[in-house]
Amino acid sequence: MEAKEPDQSRTVLAHWMGVADANASGYIHGGTIMKLVDEAAALAAVRHSQRRTVTASMDRMAFLVPVQVGELVTFNATVNAAWNTSMEVGVRVEAENPLTGEVRHACSAFLTMVALDDQGQPTQVTPLVATTAEDERRRREAELRRAHRLAERAAIEDGRRALAGEGSDV
Ligand SMILES: CC(C)(COP(=O)(O)OP(=O)(O)OC[C@H]1O[C@@H](n2cnc3c(N)ncnc32)[C@H](O)[C@@H]1OP(=O)(O)O)[C@@H](O)C(=O)NCCC(=O)NCCS
Repeated sequence: MEAKEPDQSRTVLAHWMGVADANASGYIHGGTIMKLVDEAAALAAVRHSQRRTVTASMDRMAFLVPVQVGELVTFNATVNAAWNTSMEVGVRVEAENPLTGEVRHACSAFLTMVALDDQGQPTQVTPLVATTAEDERRRREAELRRAHRLAERAAIEDGRRALAGEGSDV
């Protein structure tokens, strides 16, 4: 499988936020933003792997500033790293007031996307090659986050197995 650079799958989605996206105070729902983050990440992952993908996880996400009705929100998704069957995609969300041109960083998120074969089973993904210093920094940091995610998953599973061994039904 020939390796690809992050530029080959980088994806930008844009959405002009309307009243249907907002609560009664005119602030955009966090869930609306999370759905579009997931969509942008999925598109980047599908373009990279040329496979169907599912979202395995989305890391903790902090909303840095409120986004308001009338703002143009862009979702910039980049594949940071590709492993065996999974990829990390980073999504940066920016909100622009089109009347003033002011752009604010609204939030960022890291998602783990898993490629599936035609039977719906996890399958090998295209390797990622980092060619710029920025791509290499993203790849290195993605490795650190993956180590934490997998360690957390393993610790939770170990804890549950230990409790089950003691007769608990957790
Ligand atoms: C994601 C899913 C396919 C993983 O299945 P699984 O049986 O755990 O498969 P594996 O253990 O082989 O894991 C597959 C990959 O996902 C990674 N992964 C699984 N759970 C993960 C988690 N919580 N965080 C990070 N990575 C995870 C594994 O490390 C592995 O990656 P690798 O092959 O590159 O090392 C399965 O849990 C699933 O289908 N979940 C539901 C997905 C979904 O419905 N999403 C929302 C709609 S898109």
